[in-house]
Amino acid sequence: MRTPVIAGNWKLYKSAHETTQFLNELAPLVKETRRAEIVVCPPFVALPAAIAAARGSAIEVGAQDVFWLKEGAYTGEVSAPMLLAIGCQWVIIGHSERRQYFGETEETVFKKTTAALESGLKPIVCVGEKLEEREAGQTGAVLESQFNGGLAGLSPEQFARVSIAYEPVWAIGTGRTATPEMAVEAHAFLRAKIRARFGAEIADASRILYGGSVKPDNAAALLAQDEIDGALVGGASLDAKSFAAIVNA
Ligand code: 13P
Repeated sequence: MRTPVIAGNWKLYKSAHETTQFLNELAPLVKETRRAEIVVCPPFVALPAAIAAARGSAIEVGAQDVFWLKEGAYTGEVSAPMLLAIGCQWVIIGHSERRQYFGETEETVFKKTTAALESGLKPIVCVGEKLEEREAGQTGAVLESQFNGGLAGLSPEQFARVSIAYEPVWAIGTGRTATPEMAVEAHAFLRAKIRARFGAEIADASRILYGGSVKPDNAAALLAQDEIDGALVGGASLDAKSFAAIVNA
């Protein structure tokens, strides 16, 4: 059985102080949870506060991006060993907002994922189609090219430590979530690609999370699907009570 992952992507929200307050509120609300791994991903500068406040709880901490080299003359970047050194365990890679606004490509996703794995960070690699791509019947082709470019070049041992997040771009921040059927179809498509490239054992063990307007009131229906191994939550992860409700779903 795959242990679900419920991860909160805070995007550009919450100071270090607000992060401490959030975790102090969240920790008791998810204390009894044994069936899911819980991850919060604050902005870089709030990571130390999150790691300190999460200590002693089951909550783990992730970054929202990482650079692919360890060090060098790369103004503004943060490396995987630097994240690991402060106690960060996870990293989101290739989020659609990074693809849209910051020039993320399949090639950079692949380099960042490789770097994260080499350092021992657990990557959550995001894929997903835009609205016009879905309407043009291109969802499968988009997912396939994101998988081929960003992930297929990993070794099986590397890929076994990757989680994928399927995030249809049209569902992010819009309140328009994919139906469980739509998510299952995309997850099954991705799992078939994983099986073809990495074999049945790895495909069966791979965690594919759904992201895009996951809220306390739709989380249970999504997470009840065998194909859906967790959630990557944006807006609803900013409130401890609503994030805890999703974890406990
Ligand atoms: P929302 O949950 O706000 O739609 O954001 C989803 C997302 O982008 C998570 O990475």
